[in-house]
Amino acid sequence: MPDPKSQLYRDLAVQLGALLEGESDPVANAANMAALVWRGLPHLNWAGFYFRQGAELVLGPFQGKPACVRIPLGQGVCGAAAAQGRSVVVPDVHDFPGHIACDPNSRSELVVPLVEDGAVLAVLDLDSPVLARFDEADRDGCEQLAALFVAHHRRSARADARDTDPESGCRLPLPRREDLDAEGRRAYDRLAAPNGGTLRGLHGPGGIQLHSPELSRRSRPVNQYLRYEAGLGGRVRELAILATAREHDAQFEWAAHEPAALAEGISPEIIDTIRCGGDIARLSEADAIVIALAREIFAARRVSPQTYAGALDQFGPRQLVDLVALMGNYASTAALLTAFAMRLDEGQPPPLPRLFFPGR
Ligand code: SME
Repeated sequence: MPDPKSQLYRDLAVQLGALLEGESDPVANAANMAALVWRGLPHLNWAGFYFRQGAELVLGPFQGKPACVRIPLGQGVCGAAAAQGRSVVVPDVHDFPGHIACDPNSRSELVVPLVEDGAVLAVLDLDSPVLARFDEADRDGCEQLAALFVAHHRRSARADARDTDPESGCRLPLPRREDLDAEGRRAYDRLAAPNGGTLRGLHGPGGIQLHSPELSRRSRPVNQYLRYEAGLGGRVRELAILATAREHDAQFEWAAHEPAALAEGISPEIIDTIRCGGDIARLSEADAIVIALAREIFAARRVSPQTYAGALDQFGPRQLVDLVALMGNYASTAALLTAFAMRLDEGQPPPLPRLFFPGR
């Protein structure tokens, strides 16, 4: 006879599969999963999610009493599970150094990370008023539920990518040179040339724009001016482009520019801070202001007086206008890449982890 606990988790897995079916919104799905677990497992006083945002966990959908909102990675049971990328079973929370007591009634806890390609996206946290409520069967069962959730979202992302042209890697095929008018052929040849001024040539935004040769012709000098002639410098340029790509979840744009950022001497640590939406307080003011500006323009959609004043001090009016226009230029590229579903190169893992709430 099957052990009743593993049977319970098998039933929950079937129900979770049915709840997720056909829905790709991670917040809605996490909310239903929290409710399912809350109703399905006995002796809980809290069940829910914390989503990873950079170096913190931020409260997500849950059932139970109001809880603490932000937990730094490495702190508490949730932060430990997220930092280590593995489940943590705590039989007695009083014995866990650094346990964060959101509800004094909690006596035991189980935290299971949701991991995709080695990156922790979120944790599922279960609290119980009963000592030693969770055992290995609970850990295994919850890990299976978490894996189902991650696999579902990965499949949704793959399904989104399926409607692309295998040769161009996006929804539009690459135009054939002989089908283009004279202007289009000039644009085609410029893009195909090894030093054509774009990082990816015909593959990527260049190839998409070729469908509108006039757009390709007119936008190129603006892009070249903003990148190379506005006097912003390579470091500021690549910081601005990466921060813009991050805010738009523009995987392809990021992948093209990360090597350029490294070549400009931007450290891997700074690149990771931008990649994960991390804290910029420790960066130099000169770097931080560029990243803050992009985050505020695209995520907060309001630039604070402090950020504006800092940016104006650093760049002066003309360069600041050019810097913001450069970000806008790459936001426009990100829009093309998103609308035409540009895929990463075969075998390239997505460089940008999903930030559930990129707004900070
Ligand atoms: N106890 C958790 C904090 C979250 S609440 O339990 C909802 C911890 O130590 O990380």
